[in-house]
Amino acid sequence: MNSVQQAGSTPTSGSMLLGVIGDPIIHSKSPVMHNAALKALGIPGSYVPLHIKPEGLEGAIQAVRSLGFRGINVTIPHKVEVMKYLDHIDEGAARVGAVNTIVNNNGVLTGYNTDGIGYVRSLKEEACPVLNGKKIVVLGAGGAARGIIHALTAEHPDQISVVNRTASKAIELAQEWGALADIQGFSEAEAKEVVASADVLINTTSVGMHPNIADLPVPKEWIPEGIVVSDLIYNPLETALLHTSSDKGCIIHGGLGMFVNQGAYALEYWTGLAAPVEIMKEAVLHSFKI
Ligand code: ATR
Repeated sequence: MNSVQQAGSTPTSGSMLLGVIGDPIIHSKSPVMHNAALKALGIPGSYVPLHIKPEGLEGAIQAVRSLGFRGINVTIPHKVEVMKYLDHIDEGAARVGAVNTIVNNNGVLTGYNTDGIGYVRSLKEEACPVLNGKKIVVLGAGGAARGIIHALTAEHPDQISVVNRTASKAIELAQEWGALADIQGFSEAEAKEVVASADVLINTTSVGMHPNIADLPVPKEWIPEGIVVSDLIYNPLETALLHTSSDKGCIIHGGLGMFVNQGAYALEYWTGLAAPVEIMKEAVLHSFKI
């Protein structure tokens, strides 16, 4: 039995069907990234973009079973809603409250969240190998922040400080996961002092995203020299925050690595094989240029 058949997708055809559901979906870089990976691994199959509106979500999930898809990714706006149509939810995804990856084992669907673990793998590989004992400051407390903060708690940092425009969301998140790590929530009014203590500063807000590429989530003067600064945004590849931080001698880390690694984990769940991460990254970078 080859690896494709072991993965349990469509043993009759031996071809692995994968895809991503979202609304909109046309700009997704996942198909180009995963098709490059399938080719590099020598796995016959295809990864397709599927434009699914909210009213079509339940039917789309049923179709994953009936059409014999091995797995799918789930993107905006379905990451939360999709959970009620699955057979099992992985513990991490349940805590985060969102699913971005579904694995189909002979009609039994399990939901995972690879965004947070993908982010942390990328941060450690590219910028900060040891997070243990670090003071981490996270800007933002939305869906993306939840995924990465949950994954960061597993790294045993000294402290995670969450700063959010709507302070109540940061404080509630800190209370919810208080048992996992030393987490505290703060308002923007407290941000200057909090950021001053950071070893690692992570922007999860949309401030600085295309087209508002000159915007900074915190003023330049607040950023300590020489720390690690990470931004989840990958369009542009180097945000104003990263550019400014680089000028201050910081180690910078952009959002492309998170995108590639959330996909790498998903591919590993579907195939049982190590993902060709560099080839996946190159495929995404190339698609930005054309
Ligand atoms: P995502 O899934 O990308 O995290 P989200 O759940 O809508 O999206 O969360 C967006 C985050 O960016 C929130 O923390 C939001 O702050 P609020 O909770 O106060 O809305 C933050 N954010 C978005 N625009 C912002 C801005 N202009 N200034 C500061 N924070 C902003």
